Amino acid sequence: MFQANLLQDHVVLITGGGSGLGRAMAERFGQLGAKVGVVGRREALLQETVAAIAAAGGTAAWARCDVRDPASVTAAVDAIEAQLGPVTTLINNAAGNFLAATEELSANAFDAVVKIVLNGTFNCTLDLGRRWIERGTAGQVLAIVTTYAWTGSAFVVPSACAKAGVLVLMKSLAVEWATYGIRCNAIAPGPFPTEGAFSRLMPEGMHQEALQQVPLGRFGRPEELANLAAYLCSPMNAWMTGECVTLDGGEVLKAGQEFSRMTDIPRDELKAGLAMMRPTKSAK
Ligand code: HXC
Ligand code: NAP
Repeated sequence: MFQANLLQDHVVLITGGGSGLGRAMAERFGQLGAKVGVVGRREALLQETVAAIAAAGGTAAWARCDVRDPASVTAAVDAIEAQLGPVTTLINNAAGNFLAATEELSANAFDAVVKIVLNGTFNCTLDLGRRWIERGTAGQVLAIVTTYAWTGSAFVVPSACAKAGVLVLMKSLAVEWATYGIRCNAIAPGPFPTEGAFSRLMPEGMHQEALQQVPLGRFGRPEELANLAAYLCSPMNAWMTGECVTLDGGEVLKAGQEFSRMTDIPRDELKAGLAMMRPTKSAK
């Protein structure tokens, strides 16, 4: 579906590009001709991602970066630009999260997540936005949020607050920075079985129940998210800004629909029950 050179004019910087969905996006962008910079805290994972992209014929570089620290972000962007040229596309993917009862959270625990997700996204977006504005070049930002950025969610309150902030940051800047040719969009993924997310949020015993909540009956595949990200960042999508695309197999809609639980009943059984509820002609 995609031409092999679809992203050939892009230099993309992916935060958290050493693992999970970030790595999947990095590899896909590399296959499509983008030069890919991956940043994060664990150097070995970043090196592995760069090696995988190079082995597939792509061009990539890595830099250590803690997105919570603006100076670290600037140094990492400098390092990536020195190796790959000016960054055109930022993917704010780095995140932190854990399950906890909110009344048991310390102020430091709240900060631990919000500083990665919201402050980190702000730091990276501001650093690159300023570069693009100063250079007079277009740019684009894609943020990976969650489907509970709108609804909030029990037991992941720091993440929910931070992701809601990230979504609003993207929508705000979509308008404020449009004059500079900077687009800002987001993807809201449902459950994707990455080590980082599932080890913290999805105990093995909960998988079956979680699958039951997804109308399409399975978890997401990282390559599906990577393909959506590639399309959103491609020249095919140059007029979209301030938008968030949900990719969750229908999970969030099912959670909000009054009668969606009826889809859990075998369809023949359900139809037989519905037929019994139907008034007979004489009863009308
Ligand atoms: C309660 C906790 C806790 C937990 C840490 N803390 N884990 N509190 N329950 N499970 C508290 C600590 O006690 C401490 O508070 C404070 O948080 C900071 O802890 P540190 O371990 O020092 O934090 P830090 O080293 O900064 O690590 C941040 C982290 C860690 C978020 C806790 O898990 C991390 O680095 N994660 C990065 C990767 C990640 O989380 N990936 C998942 C993304 S998935 P005190 O008061 O004791 O000092 C995702 C999916 C969403 O977002 C949607 C799914 C459907
Ligand atoms: P992951 O592998 O744990 O990804 C998180 C990444 O963030 C890691 O590579 C981590 O690398 C990086 N990171 C964390 N703190 C950082 C910091 N201070 N500075 C720089 N990088 C930092 O989990 P994932 O599932 O792929 O998550 C990717 C994104 O998808 C996240 O935004 C997450 O919220 C979102 N998401 C995932 C799911 C899912 O089901 N998987 C669902 C909804 C949304 P280091 O630790 O090496 O720094």
